[in-house]
Amino acid sequence: MGFPNISSYTTSERYDMKGVEMLSVQGLTKAFGSGSNKLQVLKGVDMNIKQGEMVALMGPSGSGKSTLLNIIGGLLAGDDGSITLGKRTYGLKGPSSVVDVRRELVGWIFQDFHLLDNLTAIDNVAMALELSGMPSSEAVFAAQTALTKVGLGDRMHFIPDQLSGGQQQRVAIARAIAGNRPVLLADEPTGNLDIASGKEVMALFKELCHDEENPISILMVTHDPDLASNADRMLLLNDGRTEASDIRSAWGLDHEDDTAAEAAETESEEGGEEE
Ligand SMILES: Nc1ncnc2c1ncn2[C@@H]1O[C@H](COP(=O)(O)OP(=O)(O)O)[C@@H](O)[C@H]1O
Ligand SMILES: [Mg+2]
Repeated sequence: MGFPNISSYTTSERYDMKGVEMLSVQGLTKAFGSGSNKLQVLKGVDMNIKQGEMVALMGPSGSGKSTLLNIIGGLLAGDDGSITLGKRTYGLKGPSSVVDVRRELVGWIFQDFHLLDNLTAIDNVAMALELSGMPSSEAVFAAQTALTKVGLGDRMHFIPDQLSGGQQQRVAIARAIAGNRPVLLADEPTGNLDIASGKEVMALFKELCHDEENPISILMVTHDPDLASNADRMLLLNDGRTEASDIRSAWGLDHEDDTAAEAAETESEEGGEEE
């Protein structure tokens, strides 16, 4: 059996689609539990992500960010609404009905990398491709290409323990992009990294999204407004719905900037402002 075309679009098709809608979530709801224990986590999420866009998803702990990513990624069924990713519409069926979404459309990046300890970087990436049906020689070639793209061309034969946290996360990113999937979901991808490595991961994400030839879309959860400010756009998950948000104003950072005049005004009125 030949290697199945695991990408829904050819590179040139994707190039033509640059700036068009890649992912659309409509009226998505999800509750856990039932009766008096029912917890309505998502109450009608509406959001769109274009091809080539890097979007930061923020929101308090427990607001449903991971739940939303899990439904988009085909790991969990929603209760109502729909998701359209490229040509595919899904959202309400269990994981077994969306194997193609996980295999072809969505790549994952996790906080704790999820690498296999005993495999080298290249084998970690190649194995994921082999599992999706790619012959070994092609998988190794694709893994080399992806690792080079994330700047690890000279560390392909290192095992995770021989790599820094930032480098391990880059192996995971290589694994996620090697299958040529159009959307990456990253759930707190910098949560285990130091500040400098976190910034490097953001820069790499940006590069992948803004790639001239093969732009992808990234939806990433982060708690760090500084890192979120690297994204093209920010969404805030609040009370079960996403709203567009200005990164600075959402975190009260605008108050610092908002001219001395305004500060003086406030000061004279009430002698200071809330943090
Ligand atoms: N499988 C589950 N069963 C029951 N409750 C869950 C399950 N998954 C998540 N929850 C609850 O849903 C809420 C949202 O969780 P989550 O999506 O993980 O939030 P976030 O990622 O924003 O911190 C939390 O209150 C969490 O306890
Ligand atoms: Mg979470």
